Amino acid sequence: DEDDDTEAGGEIVAGTASGFPPFEMVEDGELVGFDIDLLEAAVAETDYELTGWEDLGFDGLIPALENENIDVIAAAMTITEEREETVSFTDPYYSADQSVLVQTDGDFEPEELEDLAGQALGAQSGTTGEGVVEEQIEDGTFDEGDYRSYDEYVFAVEELESGLLDAVILDEPVGETFEADRDVEVAFVFETGEEYGFAVRQDDEDLQEALSEGIAAVEDSSEYEEITREWFDP
Ligand code: ARG
Repeated sequence: DEDDDTEAGGEIVAGTASGFPPFEMVEDGELVGFDIDLLEAAVAETDYELTGWEDLGFDGLIPALENENIDVIAAAMTITEEREETVSFTDPYYSADQSVLVQTDGDFEPEELEDLAGQALGAQSGTTGEGVVEEQIEDGTFDEGDYRSYDEYVFAVEELESGLLDAVILDEPVGETFEADRDVEVAFVFETGEEYGFAVRQDDEDLQEALSEGIAAVEDSSEYEEITREWFDP
């Protein structure tokens, strides 16, 4: 293969960043979740073949795509203009806002972002949740010294449970999942209108198009609903 674009209908490797339930997580040593099932179902609608998954750090995904270690990212990745400078996204497959997690039954009951000023805050490195914090730091609302960046949201949530953090900022569906499984609760949600897409290299238009068609086919069949029910309605 002399071209650097993925051969049409060829083999592809997917990348994700687990620890983001219910989209991608490791259970009994296996990578599972909404994104895993949805990408596999979408690829099955194309003539590409998905040969494997790489579980990487979220902020290592775009570099891995550019280095051709992986060919597609399925990681609840929000379509943003900044990311579109380096990668191409499929049509969106899920919508989400941001939420603020606090300890269950704690004294801290924030209702809006300003209430988080002066508190110990956490988010995952390279995410839009971290972007929210960075914006508030730039505006002077939050202090840089109050923020800690984590490789995985799970680690931030553990520190929230143990009281080392006062709040964690993350995608709402993931916040709700942690609320169901751990000693944390969603204090409030704020609208960001994010949409997730699968990301490919910019020269892989054929793969981008095939995957968008694959997503549409999955959405038109009963499969999208089945996958949603499996991961969102326990
Ligand atoms: N949607 C957010 C973003 O794009 C968070 C994604 C985190 N994904 C993950 N697999 N850890 O920045």
